[in-house]
Amino acid sequence: MKLIDGKAIADQIKQEIAAEVADIKAAGGKIPHLAVIIVGHDGGSETYVAHKVKSCEQVGFKSTKICFEADVTEDTLLEQIDALNKDADVDGFIVQLPLPKHISEQKVIEAIDYRKDVDGFHPINVGRTSIGLPSFVSATPAGIMELLKRYEIETSGKHCVVIGRSNIVGKPVTSLMMQKAYPGDATVTICHSRTKNLKEITLQADIIIAAMGSPKFLKADMVKEGAVIVDVGTTRVPAPDTKTGFKLTGDVDFENVAPKCSYITPVPGGVGPMTICSLMKNTLLAGKKAVYKD
Ligand code: GUN
Repeated sequence: MKLIDGKAIADQIKQEIAAEVADIKAAGGKIPHLAVIIVGHDGGSETYVAHKVKSCEQVGFKSTKICFEADVTEDTLLEQIDALNKDADVDGFIVQLPLPKHISEQKVIEAIDYRKDVDGFHPINVGRTSIGLPSFVSATPAGIMELLKRYEIETSGKHCVVIGRSNIVGKPVTSLMMQKAYPGDATVTICHSRTKNLKEITLQADIIIAAMGSPKFLKADMVKEGAVIVDVGTTRVPAPDTKTGFKLTGDVDFENVAPKCSYITPVPGGVGPMTICSLMKNTLLAGKKAVYKD
């Protein structure tokens, strides 16, 4: 069994991005600028946003954090988005999800100029990704593909089972894995909470991407010998004897599943660090106008 070290790969990619930013700076070009909007004080969201801002510093980007209280109106948020759409200095921006119930996430996502949508959540980017056109690919699926690539994992003709059908991970990773490309060219089955005989399906999988947000759901008896396991789960499970009071727990019963696998991503230190790194990469592409020209 080989552990897929997402932290090491993410550090490597961040160094690659930093080197490119240094070149841009040396040539007198514009430093990429990412803005992040956060609403309310959800602990998970605050941690993720802090990591995003820190990563910007590490790679040499400019970053702006915009905070709103949880009772901000949808109109105020949409006005802020409009201002960022028009701000020529901002190359890309994101609105950290989830949002409070009184705000429509879909409306917010669609208000973002797709050319600055470095999260890749706008329907134009989702649609372009699904038909293989240049686009901002959402960060977690892009990070998964990068891990498969850097570990040279064979995907062509393999049976890939995705568990979870979220717009952020399950759906986009499904479309990437079936794309005519490497990584890709896989036969993909997507399973979800209503799937019958899930175990029968996962037992046929050469690659399993577990992204349903259910801690330790995937057990050893659901996995074929030699399978590749990508664990996207990041549930905060209470753990009173830790400093933070919780333990980040994946969707895979790692201890028992790992001995059966050819490759597996740990939690933490697997897909997580790659997600932020993909956001940095998208911001660099936005800064360079490499996806959309104007
Ligand atoms: N919440 C959980 N993951 C993400 C992400 O990738 N982007 C945003 N904006 N919010 C999230």
